Amino acid sequence: MEQARIVVVAGDGIGPEVTREAQRVLEAVAPKHGLALAFEEHLIGGASIDAHGTPLRDEVVARARQSQAVLLGAVGGPKWDAMPVATRPEKGLLRIRKELGLFANLRPATVFPALAGASTLRPDVVSGVDMLVVRELTGGLYFGEPRGRSAAGGKREARNTMVYDEDEVARIARVAFEAARGRRKHVTHVHKANVLEVSQLWVEVVDEVAKDFPDVALAHQLVDSCAMLLVRDPGRFDVIVTENLFGDILSDEAAQITGSLGMLPSASLGAGGIGLYEPVHGSAPDIAGKDAANPLAAILSAAMLLEHSLAAHDAARRVRDAVTAVLEAGHRTADLVLPGEQRPTIGCRAMGDRVLEALAL
Ligand code: IPM
Ligand code: MG
Repeated sequence: MEQARIVVVAGDGIGPEVTREAQRVLEAVAPKHGLALAFEEHLIGGASIDAHGTPLRDEVVARARQSQAVLLGAVGGPKWDAMPVATRPEKGLLRIRKELGLFANLRPATVFPALAGASTLRPDVVSGVDMLVVRELTGGLYFGEPRGRSAAGGKREARNTMVYDEDEVARIARVAFEAARGRRKHVTHVHKANVLEVSQLWVEVVDEVAKDFPDVALAHQLVDSCAMLLVRDPGRFDVIVTENLFGDILSDEAAQITGSLGMLPSASLGAGGIGLYEPVHGSAPDIAGKDAANPLAAILSAAMLLEHSLAAHDAARRVRDAVTAVLEAGHRTADLVLPGEQRPTIGCRAMGDRVLEALAL
């Protein structure tokens, strides 16, 4: 049996806690599906800054390049908040995405029926929501040059540049249309073409790519009204494709619709064949180290790893079914309980245990 090498970069805050549970799930499910996984752990983000003075070492990038997949926790925290953007923990995450060429970030936002009541939106608005945010991940304002701060004549100034070329737009549009083919065959392209030239280019190029997918319906939606429609009528969306910053913002919004940011997994894919899998929720420093985090987004990210990097579709389904079963059985971490709701909650490790038990059935 060939071994699949998985680089684990758990990072900061709740990253290590939730990643540990995701790794335990992978270890439990792999032998049942004829998979041999070899894990190796490395530092990223603030943890790497503290140990090595940099948020991501070249050596870790090299190890990641030699792996099938990267399992990531979260980066950042108050300890490093005062640092300039160029050296912050987040730079480690941005760099590994860029170095591995991971331009396509898939963020599915699905409402588990058992959690329809955990959303701050009415259950009738959120039930049945099943959308996929396809976020461009290696371009736009996050990486555009020129960027930086200056102080001409003592007056502080700062700039960032939103820039995309047509190839960058076409390749992410293709990912979205392909994904839609396996779903409800509807793509919404989100833009700000009434103001931004960059968005006008996106509209043009997405329309061109759409010609190759006559079986998929396409709508263009302004980003501000999309933000509004997401809370008014989230069920209307199937696949959303958009540039990096819009995707960052809208994917948090989409996640909250499902009841908790603690439920949303992600996969970052590129042409190189390596995938990076991380929960969308971030490092949540306020609850770090308290065994209070929700590991389900990390566990569902592990399911995406099985699916996209190892083509282990049955194993992926098994993990998702186990998560569904645990929720149906009523187990909840604190984030899945609405304020005022009387309901016992369990911690991160216990939630991992429940998923492992459900997997064993
Ligand atoms: C995300 C996060 C990151 C991003 C941060 C931590 C750099 O918010 O993955 O959505 O903005 O991409
Ligand atoms: Mg974000």
